[in-house]
Amino acid sequence: MKFGYFDDLKREYVITQPDTPLPWINYLGCQAYFGIISNTAGGYSFYRDARLRRITRYRYNNVPMDFGGRYIYLRDDESKEFWSPSWQPTRNNLKNYTCRHGLGYTTIGSEYAGIEASTRYFVPLDETLEIWQLTVTNKRAVKASISAFSSIEFCLWDAQDDATNFQRNFNTGQVEVEDGVIYHKTEYRERRNHFAYFATSEKGGSFDTQREAFLGSYRGWDKPATVEAGQLTNSIAHGWSPIGAHQVKLDLAPGETRQIVFVLGYHENPVAEKFDPPGSQIINKKLVKPTIAKYLDAKQADAAFEQLRQYWDGLLGVFQVATPDVHTNRMVNIWNAYQCMATFNMSRSASFYESGIGRGLGFRDSNQDLLGFVHMAPIRARERILDLASTQLPSGGAYHQYQPLTKRGNNDIGGDFNDDPHWLIVGVSAYIKEAGDWSILDEPVPYDNQPGSEKPLYEHLQRSFNYTLSRLGPHGLPLIGRADWNDCLNLNCFSDTPGQSCQTTTNKDGKVAESVFIAGLFVLAGRELAAIASHRGLESEVASYIAEVVKMDQVVRRHGWDGEWFLRAYDDFGAKIGSKECEEGKIFIESNGFCVLAGIGLEDGLAAKALEATGKHLATKHGIVLQQPPYSQYYLNLGEISSYPPGYKENAGIFCHNNPWVIIAETRLGHGDLAHDYYSRINPSAREAISDLHRCEPYVYAQMIAGKDAPSFGEAKNSWLTGTAAWNYYAIVQWILGIRTTLDGLEIAPVIPKSWPGFTATRVFRDVTYNIAIDRKGAGNSIALTVDGAPVNGNLVTPPADGRKEVTVKAILS
Ligand code: BGC
Ligand code: NOJ
Repeated sequence: MKFGYFDDLKREYVITQPDTPLPWINYLGCQAYFGIISNTAGGYSFYRDARLRRITRYRYNNVPMDFGGRYIYLRDDESKEFWSPSWQPTRNNLKNYTCRHGLGYTTIGSEYAGIEASTRYFVPLDETLEIWQLTVTNKRAVKASISAFSSIEFCLWDAQDDATNFQRNFNTGQVEVEDGVIYHKTEYRERRNHFAYFATSEKGGSFDTQREAFLGSYRGWDKPATVEAGQLTNSIAHGWSPIGAHQVKLDLAPGETRQIVFVLGYHENPVAEKFDPPGSQIINKKLVKPTIAKYLDAKQADAAFEQLRQYWDGLLGVFQVATPDVHTNRMVNIWNAYQCMATFNMSRSASFYESGIGRGLGFRDSNQDLLGFVHMAPIRARERILDLASTQLPSGGAYHQYQPLTKRGNNDIGGDFNDDPHWLIVGVSAYIKEAGDWSILDEPVPYDNQPGSEKPLYEHLQRSFNYTLSRLGPHGLPLIGRADWNDCLNLNCFSDTPGQSCQTTTNKDGKVAESVFIAGLFVLAGRELAAIASHRGLESEVASYIAEVVKMDQVVRRHGWDGEWFLRAYDDFGAKIGSKECEEGKIFIESNGFCVLAGIGLEDGLAAKALEATGKHLATKHGIVLQQPPYSQYYLNLGEISSYPPGYKENAGIFCHNNPWVIIAETRLGHGDLAHDYYSRINPSAREAISDLHRCEPYVYAQMIAGKDAPSFGEAKNSWLTGTAAWNYYAIVQWILGIRTTLDGLEIAPVIPKSWPGFTATRVFRDVTYNIAIDRKGAGNSIALTVDGAPVNGNLVTPPADGRKEVTVKAILS
């Protein structure tokens, strides 16, 4: 069952039923000002950091679900009936409800009692504000007197504090209202130089800023007393809960349409110019007023919207493909790339499942996110890499997370996740392959943000590599530390205390438990580092990296191979995890997918065996589960993985992030059919028809789909912020379609299904546009390449020597 449809031409998902199984959200903003918006206008906004600069308040896990947001109410001032065109919060029986989630904007509208209304929400480029454009049309044969109300609830900035510290917070709230603009200035009197504002294009209406004055006591957003009565009260909040609400009266002739613009924004004043007049406690509004005035003008708002569209045309234009499979096209050309922007911006911080409070930007996450993002905005990727590397510790280890606002490593979580450092190598390598910018390696970058500790980025990569070499365990495999990619495989934790974090609790000395996954990652990262070193002419270094990689490859064969598949780890007792000898957790996806992806066992059949076992024991119709059999009870020596009921999350859920590792691995064996089949099983568009089971948005990947051991097998959770976005984009584009960035140029090596006659693609790569056509003449994966008509040996397309900006690439596949 579906709840809407894809409008591929407009690059929108159109939701036609408001009561989706879960809120289906979208992101507003893609630079510094962000918002989450659901299909019924729920959600909130923040500036840069969802914890430290929360602009509007949102109550997670609320009832009814997703209650609170950017609500508009309409009231028929004759019949006194009121409703919300976005369905929530009033939930009337609307006609023609539609929510169009587009790239950086959402439009929600409907018709009720002969009044058509729709609101377009978006954040203009390079601004720290959002625009709501409300269009109301009277479709009745007679005139209509309508009141339109806007409403938002301000957050007192620090979302964590806002949700807990009520003894203080109920006293600090402050606002100003000037010319109908509501300014939220809590804590502006002391150490903040920022404030929020909420403005409307219609002057002279009334407003409210005190929540209970607007709602009435013991009432919710579904039935505000003022909206019911048809009159706001011009309340001024002192303490308690500041809100912003406007009332605009519209007399509409039959057929008449009116547009009202609301602007919600964030502004920082220079500290020395906070107040006007100086010495007073009144916000200096001089600097912000021109911006407010500009966007309240509907023409300017339209122009800003057009710019946003063009911006996305440009970003998506970097890679476009036409294959025989609509789901592949739609995800690659639109939604997967779009999701990669969201994961780049948010890491795992703010979604409908991530509260914006718990997590900053993850070191491993943000590095991996670059795989799917770097082609769209290499300059932003470069900045991100330098920020990440600046938090690296002198040991080569890494803080697991950093706060986006301060760009400092988060001490509460700390480090010692022993896979973390290698992802920096993977991220940097992806960047150089895309941008061809070798200068990044010479950038001076500090350790742990300490001034004076700057070293070239290249040295950071060396330390990442050496970090593992100085942390090898009894079998010569990498010690796991607090966890590897699998945050929940906590082999040094042994926690029996309720509520203790398995990821930051370490009860063991960490000298025994080893990870085969990190071994695979080490092999991959080591090869990348060697290739980079070779380009720099550091041949003796290359030899030593390769020697270590070869050694690790051998250790994996000797101590990481179980007979039919790769082991997962050794625990603190030196016992195997992910072995046929285990009763539960006999086989794991991560080590099998990643070791093969890294090239281990390709020549001697181990890789093929490992993938066969993976397919046999782990693949299901909804995707590949993380391990089998699931853990049926909590094991002290395993940690959080065994805390989840079977089939969920890391305990045998379909943890989508690692499915593309197997997909890539299959392409390395030349299995295009199986690779694309696995790809399609978790492709959200391909799952649209089962939206009632899948439940999450059909246009973005979710972190997890419940595995076969769960009662809700096939149900997705935790959509949007997942490494699945980048990895699946990378898997389909670079490995199945095989249009691959390398240090030397673009490689063309498709491993596509046998039934595909071929495909075409355009790729803008280092300022050159490549028009690529793949033509299948036989069932295999061999390639005969011509570039602008001239045959080329091998499959590498190097940048045109004569400076041409457009190149035609034809490949015959046989
Ligand atoms: C999640 C990880 C997260 C960890 C935090 C795990 O269940 O999958 O994403 O880092 O919990 O505790
Ligand atoms: C999600 C986390 O963000 C990521 O870092 C981790 O690798 C996976 N969960 C698996 O635990």
